[in-house]
Amino acid sequence: MRLRKKPWVAEALTGFSDIVVQNSGEELAGKWQGLFKKNLPLHVELGTGKGRFIVGMGEQHRELANFVGIEAKEEVLYAAAQKVREQELTNVQLVVFDINNILNIFAPGEIDRLYINFCDPWPKNRHAKRRLTHIEFLKKYRLLLQPGGQIWFKTDNRELFEFSLEQFSEFGLTVTKVTYDLLHSGFDGNIMTEYETKFSSLGQPIYRCEVNF
Ligand SMILES: C[S@@+](CC[C@H](N)C(=O)[O-])C[C@H]1O[C@@H](n2cnc3c(N)ncnc32)[C@H](O)[C@@H]1O
Repeated sequence: MRLRKKPWVAEALTGFSDIVVQNSGEELAGKWQGLFKKNLPLHVELGTGKGRFIVGMGEQHRELANFVGIEAKEEVLYAAAQKVREQELTNVQLVVFDINNILNIFAPGEIDRLYINFCDPWPKNRHAKRRLTHIEFLKKYRLLLQPGGQIWFKTDNRELFEFSLEQFSEFGLTVTKVTYDLLHSGFDGNIMTEYETKFSSLGQPIYRCEVNF
């Protein structure tokens, strides 16, 4: 299912056919590597937002990984597409898609790493299933990740972080590099997202971990 709402953005995105997937994305399951110049490990960001993270990662790992950014809101993804073009990155592709249906756009084992950055916390208990780290999502990620694949997870929300650690553990996954203060953790090469920049500037700690499948 394609998520298209604002006609001007839909039109504008057609000018980014080298960066933004123009169809639903479902036709690409098992074929993502064909969109890139080199065959490299596939890293996928869930909820890319305005693209600061994926563009930074694309620059930092030009020869090391191919990146796909998934974002539901076209107008937000448009900002990301502009950044990818400005930096002339050939290892970043973007798609307007609903993560709930992620099994429709990737083949089993096609992904090497997932990034979940500052996803919506859905604080009400009755919405817990919507959190991208809920066990129902972990089941989907397990199908799509290579054995040995990972999730790199960051959030400013302590309740969501603790909920997520519990979900990972309940699902039998090993969690490493857990920090409750990323800025002061000595982690090298961190690329900040838009939300992270905002929260960090307010002095809020950032929680981070790596989850091993
Ligand atoms: C809180 S923002 C964080 C954006 C970015 N990752 C950052 O850290 O700056 C969450 C983003 O995820 C997107 N998003 C939320 N649910 C989604 C879904 N089901 N499918 C695709 N994108 C989604 C939102 O549109 C929004 O841009």
